Amino acid sequence: METPPPNSHNDILIVEDSALYVSHFEKVFATTPYSVATITNGLAAWERLQTSQPKILLLDWNLPGLDGPTICRRLRAHQCERYVFVIMLTSMQRLEDVLTGFDAGADDYMVKPFESAVLKAKVRVGIRLWELEASNTSKVQLLARANLRQQDLIQTLEEKNRVISQQTQDIQNAQVQLVETARRAGMAEIATSVLHNVGNLLNTAMTSSTVIRETVGHSRVVSLTRLAEVLRNQPQGLLEFVRSDPRGAKVTEFISEIAAALGSEHQLVAGKLAVLAESHEQIRQIIALQQSYAGVTGVKDSVHLPGLIEDATRLFIESFKKHEIAIRCDFSPELPAILVEKHKLLQILINLLTNARDATKSRNREDRHIRITAACGTPDTVTMKLTDNGVGISPENQERIFNFGFTTKADGHGFGLHGCANLAREMGGTLKASSPGQGQGATFSLTLPIK
Ligand SMILES: Nc1ncnc2c1ncn2[C@@H]1O[C@H](COP(=O)(O)OP(=O)(O)OP(=O)(O)O)[C@@H](O)[C@H]1O
Ligand SMILES: [Mg+2]
Repeated sequence: METPPPNSHNDILIVEDSALYVSHFEKVFATTPYSVATITNGLAAWERLQTSQPKILLLDWNLPGLDGPTICRRLRAHQCERYVFVIMLTSMQRLEDVLTGFDAGADDYMVKPFESAVLKAKVRVGIRLWELEASNTSKVQLLARANLRQQDLIQTLEEKNRVISQQTQDIQNAQVQLVETARRAGMAEIATSVLHNVGNLLNTAMTSSTVIRETVGHSRVVSLTRLAEVLRNQPQGLLEFVRSDPRGAKVTEFISEIAAALGSEHQLVAGKLAVLAESHEQIRQIIALQQSYAGVTGVKDSVHLPGLIEDATRLFIESFKKHEIAIRCDFSPELPAILVEKHKLLQILINLLTNARDATKSRNREDRHIRITAACGTPDTVTMKLTDNGVGISPENQERIFNFGFTTKADGHGFGLHGCANLAREMGGTLKASSPGQGQGATFSLTLPIK
């Protein structure tokens, strides 16, 4: 009897000890496409099944070594790689035998002698079921593998999520700190402008007073005093001195010369004193202005926009003069007073004016302009527009300039506009920017409710 090499998977394994039946089976399956192996001993059959499983096991009952039902029972208890379809083929034909066979795990039961056609039909059914089972198993395996991959993925995602949560938390903390810094920076903006301007004005005053001191220190008035002394000590009297003394002839000329010198000294000192007085007045106004804006948060005042805009631009007088920036204001005559927290509005204006100043610095000195207009928008709102002819804003940056921390300046923080937009919102208004493009200036429009 030919036995297939171990580990090869045959379609059908026949376990049958009767040589007659073995040759009969061989004839039956000779015309089918199935590969068939035969074993005549029960124990040998069981050993073969440990390493290689057929699709169909045709199992006799009475066998040397191990009987059919025992082989079947062990097979079902054994962890097989694939399902084995078992057909018991035996001469045991009592009902209890049939039931024992099924109980042992047989899938089908045939009694000898049998119809070859029926056996072939049953084998076909077995093969079909085996294939179904195999395809299910591979699907289950695929699913299991996919499941494993998914679990891996979930784990990786969870890990990433943890990292992102931590980073988000860090960013939130940093954001809170930055917002606080920005808020302080905004509050300090007015104070800084005030100090900056007072400092500039004090410089101007210092220069004037130095000039006055030097002029007075080197005044020709000393020569006049000396002449008066000489004249007082002339025993023959002033007339005689002028007539007879050689020095007397020059007195008139000398007096005219001193008078002219004293005249210019006087003019210089008077001019510088005027500058001093003006600086003093401006310092007084700026300090008064700062005091009037150091209001309590949350308190609204009735504000006339032209006056407030004038106050804001006053803080830039020195700076605009230095950079030769021309500022022009046009206000609608029907502009009503609005109810706002005026220090917030001043803060916005200072930021917008600072930005406009920075933007126009790129142009030639003789061509730097800022224009401010204010008019009623709708019956309930007023709109103030601040237009400069500076660097302008590229289309891609027009959305980003209000983002916290966005800046294109080497020394910028990117707090200004973000803070202004927030303040505008707090006041129930809006702040918008527009620009025809780079190098073509920009307009910032602040719309606020009248009440
Ligand atoms: N008038 C303007 N013309 C052109 N670009 C402007 C103008 N105003 C603002 N920008 C652009 O918007 C950016 C953000 O302005 P923002 O005032 O928020 O910050 P910053 O001026 O850069 O720094 P800071 O926090 O000191 O104000 C500026 O860096 C600039 O690129
Ligand atoms: Mg700014």
